[in-house]
Amino acid sequence: MPGFVKMEMEDRLAIVTVNRPDSLNALNSIILRELSVAIEHLSMAADVGAIILTGAGDRAFVAGADIKEMANLSGLEMQHFSEMGRRLGDAMASCNKPIIAAINGFALGGGCELALACDIRIASVRAELGQPEVGIGIIPGFGGSQRLPRLVGPGWAAEMIYTGDRINAATAERIGLVNRVVPADRLLAEAKALAHKILEKSPAAIALAKACLRAAWDMPLSAGLDFETAAFGIVGSTQDKAEGMRAFVEKRKPAWTGA
Ligand code: COA
Repeated sequence: MPGFVKMEMEDRLAIVTVNRPDSLNALNSIILRELSVAIEHLSMAADVGAIILTGAGDRAFVAGADIKEMANLSGLEMQHFSEMGRRLGDAMASCNKPIIAAINGFALGGGCELALACDIRIASVRAELGQPEVGIGIIPGFGGSQRLPRLVGPGWAAEMIYTGDRINAATAERIGLVNRVVPADRLLAEAKALAHKILEKSPAAIALAKACLRAAWDMPLSAGLDFETAAFGIVGSTQDKAEGMRAFVEKRKPAWTGA
C-alpha cells in the first residue's frame, strides 16, 4: 500500500506500521483514511488471523493527531477530523481479528487513543503514553474520553486527561493501560509471540470471542450475557467446534478451517 501506512504479511499475521517517522508518526487525515482502509481490508481477508499495529522508527508509536493540520481547521472541520478517528476506531472494533498494539515510543493524544482502540497493548520500556490535548486547547477526539476510563478507571483517566502528563511504561502497566512492558529490542518479537498463540486457536472462536468482548464494552450486563449465550450457540455450530473437541478426544492438534 502506498503512502504512510506499511503492511507486511508473515503467514497469517499482518504487521501494520504507521510510517511517518519525521513527524513522529503523527496522524494526518491521509493516515486516518489509510489505516481505516487497511483494517477493513484485513478484516475481510480470510488468510489473516491477527494484526500487529506499530509505529516506524525508534521514537514513536504515534505522537498524536497532526497538530499542524488541525491548526488550520474550523470547528466543523475539527468535527470531521474527529469523525475520521471515530471511523477508524469503529473499523478496529468491528474487525474480527485481534489487533495488538506494539507501542515502541511516544503514544500521545491520538496515538494513545489508537492504542486504546486495539485489543491488547504491549509496550517497550521506552514508551511514554499520555493525553496532552488540554495543553494545546483541545480535548481527546479519537475516543480517549470514552475508552481510557473504561480501561483504567475514571480516576486515572481524569488525571491523565486533565493534567496532560505523560506516564512511563511501568506506570502504564501498573494501571492496566498496557498488558506488559518488554525491552525495546524485544517488542516486536514479544508481540509476534503473543499473536502466534492466538493464531494457533480456532479463527471462528477468536472472531466470536472478539465480538463478545466488544459487547462487554458496549452493552449493559444482561444484554451482554444474552449476546454471549447467542454467540455460544453460533460457535457450537462451527466445524472448528467439532474439530476442536474431536482433536481433544483423539489427543492430537486440531486442524482449524475457521468455518
Ligand atoms: N503533530 C504534528 N507534528 C508533530 C507531532 C504532532 N502531534 N508530534 C511531533 N511532531 C513533529 C514535530 O513538529 C517535529 O517536526 P519538525 O522537525 O518539522 O519541527 C517532529 O515531529 C519531531 O518532534 P519534536 O517535537 O522536534 O521532538 P521532541 O523530541 O522535541 O519532542 C514530543 C517529542 C512527542 C514530546 C513532541 O513532539 C510533542 O509534544 N508532540 C506533540 C504531542 C501532542 O500534543 N500530541 C497530541 C496531539 S492531539
